[in-house]
Amino acid sequence: MRRGGAGPFAVGMRTQVAVIGAGPAGLLLAHLLARGGVDAVVLETRSQEYVASRIRAGILEHSTVELLDSVGLGDRLHAEGYEHRGIHLQWPHERHHLDFVALTGRSVWVYGQTEVQKDLVAAGHPAIYEIGDTALHDLDTDHPYVTYTDAAGAAQRLDADVVVGCDGSFGPSRAAVPDSAKQSWEKVYPYSWLGILADVAPSTDELIYAWHPRGFALHSMRSPTVSRLYLQVPNGTDLADWPDQRIWDELAVRLGHGQDGWQLTPGPVTDKSVLPMRSFVQTPMRYGRLFLAGDAAHIVPPTGAKGLNLAVADVARLGPALIALLTDKDPALADRYSDDALRRVWRCTHFSWWMTTMLHAGGDPFDAQLQLSQLRWVVSSRAGATGLAENYAGLPI
Ligand code: FAD
Ligand code: PHB
Repeated sequence: MRRGGAGPFAVGMRTQVAVIGAGPAGLLLAHLLARGGVDAVVLETRSQEYVASRIRAGILEHSTVELLDSVGLGDRLHAEGYEHRGIHLQWPHERHHLDFVALTGRSVWVYGQTEVQKDLVAAGHPAIYEIGDTALHDLDTDHPYVTYTDAAGAAQRLDADVVVGCDGSFGPSRAAVPDSAKQSWEKVYPYSWLGILADVAPSTDELIYAWHPRGFALHSMRSPTVSRLYLQVPNGTDLADWPDQRIWDELAVRLGHGQDGWQLTPGPVTDKSVLPMRSFVQTPMRYGRLFLAGDAAHIVPPTGAKGLNLAVADVARLGPALIALLTDKDPALADRYSDDALRRVWRCTHFSWWMTTMLHAGGDPFDAQLQLSQLRWVVSSRAGATGLAENYAGLPI
């Protein structure tokens, strides 16, 4: 990091790439850039501990694991993560296993986003945490810059060749693109997920995605002693209405406790939250010297387990593109970044929408029959099963 430039701000800093957001997209991008000899400064509003402890994604697709391996970030994942061959899909009285490895030769890994975040922090790229008032400037010039207030309350200015918005769904980067230069698509779903983390051994070997007339349920996990489970609930659900016993009772019904002798074992709940679900895409993923990556550009509902994986796929493309742009002065990859990334974004947006609408109860009895018909087809047709497996385990980046 080089210091220089002053302007109206007390301390001026200069870097090649100003990265906004120290989530998985921001820190992984900084890591890729550093490996390619490009200097980056990462700015983050929250504390390092807060970012590292946010409980979010749990499933890494095949290409994500390959990418992390290829840049030296896969050791703990392989030592402490769990490779899964597939998932279980179920509805009342039936449970079917889809074997992704047999269908596509690709597996997925259970490894929490908290762990990915820890590995990224351990990789050593520093970030400036607990900043405020992040604002992006002069993005349509060759001299963009970011202003912010540091943890001590001092106004700061960071000049860069390129700014990358990795600031998630609520950050300022996507809004910094003028309305005339962007288009967005959004779908808000009429339900949310109530998620719990519990100190209890998973009651299943691989994830169970359950259709049920009372609503969708998902049994996931983090380790042999920690389970992660979700229930479809109405939007606006108040956690106060869901004491732990009610959650476990509802999970037991929807996941089929007692069905063919299967049992759901409850345990102490250590975290509980409600998440609304939406699909959102903003295009293009570039405006002048600003590039968008991860949730800053697109959001998917979690049913397809795609959000974190898409963020990784974006920066896997953007890293080499920025290295070529800034080191070799070759703009070809950077110019193609948005179009190339959006192809995968729309594929994952469709898959996440498809999984969501196939599995959630919407209250319409006709739709419910179509959902069951679709599920039966997916588990009984090699083409149907392979389509789900290809998308879930992830296409090559
Ligand atoms: P984020 O992780 O949101 O990081 C953005 C960062 O930018 C944050 O640290 C934020 O504090 C920071 N920031 C915001 N504003 C500013 C600002 N003004 N200045 C500086 N910094 C700022 N995905 C999957 O692939 N598989 C799953 O199984 C899965 N399950 C999920 C379950 C849940 C409950 C949730 C909520 C999400 C899940 N996701 C899943 C999605 C996944 O967590 C996100 O897609 C992923 O975190 C995106 O990474 P990101 O780095 O783009 O954004
Ligand atoms: C999770 O473990 O948090 C998880 C797994 C699969 C999903 C969504 C979330 O589809």
